Amino acid sequence: MMLSVNRMGPVFAAELIGADLNGALTPDLVNTVREAMDAHGVLVIRDADIDDAAQVRFSCQFGALELPPTLGLRPQNGFKPRVAPEVYDVSNLSASGEIEPADSARRSFKSDQFFHSDSSFNLLPTTWSLLSARVLPPAGTGGDTEFIDMRAVYAALDDGTKAEIETLEGEHCFTFGLRLGGWEPPEAMQAKFPIVAQKLVKRAPDGRKTLFAGAHCGGIVGWPADKGRALLRRLIDFAREDRFRYIHKWRPHDLLIWDNRTVLHRVTPYDSFTHVREMRRTTLLDQREDACGVAA
Ligand code: OGA
Ligand code: MN
Repeated sequence: MMLSVNRMGPVFAAELIGADLNGALTPDLVNTVREAMDAHGVLVIRDADIDDAAQVRFSCQFGALELPPTLGLRPQNGFKPRVAPEVYDVSNLSASGEIEPADSARRSFKSDQFFHSDSSFNLLPTTWSLLSARVLPPAGTGGDTEFIDMRAVYAALDDGTKAEIETLEGEHCFTFGLRLGGWEPPEAMQAKFPIVAQKLVKRAPDGRKTLFAGAHCGGIVGWPADKGRALLRRLIDFAREDRFRYIHKWRPHDLLIWDNRTVLHRVTPYDSFTHVREMRRTTLLDQREDACGVAA
């Protein structure tokens, strides 16, 4: 089948029809995906009926994988993960495959509900995330994935703001996003997640400038906490305007890819006590020389 790329949103986001991710991963397929991603920032590959092994095989065509943390839950301790070790389990299911109970610790981790860039709190941030729909809640009941094109946001900033932020660095930490969700991390956990500084203005793969912030970014390096938070609040409030957004309404077997350098994303609410939402994510490391953050 011929590959075709169709634009979906007015500003960014596209779909790819005709790809068989279980077959030969041809140079034509790999180049088409890479070019579409650089241009559109978000790409959904339709009819990608894949398992974890196929998702890993496809993802590895585009870079090295960021491995999910094991949280000390290792097979030798009797823990059997439901997903392959290279894959993030993005679901409302417990290890036994049941809907997570109301008191599960995982339910208090809500940073995915706020616009964010995956793993921006790591020294080595990420390029793409690839999210595969395995079980979706019924259509029209939420659980969409919403995006903001941060290249378009940057371009629309007034010149004064552009000059103000040009050389600033954001402070990123895993615990900042958790706090937004109303959860106070215990001190021992806080100590495990250092603050990482990332440039607030970066270059997207298409050469345009992009604003790099989101839920894991809670301050500005060298600024008083209140002043930093106020600037970030102002920038994110501006970024949330409808003109910069695309909402992805999932279809079965969608594989949704986004560029964490170019867009922010979040999941929209759904009834997670009634409906299963089971997604699997692979994530690629940004190994370019100038990508690395610094300890703040
Ligand atoms: C993620 C994420 C959003 C979603 O997997 O990183 O933010 O819609 N997911 O599940
Ligand atoms: Mn995410």
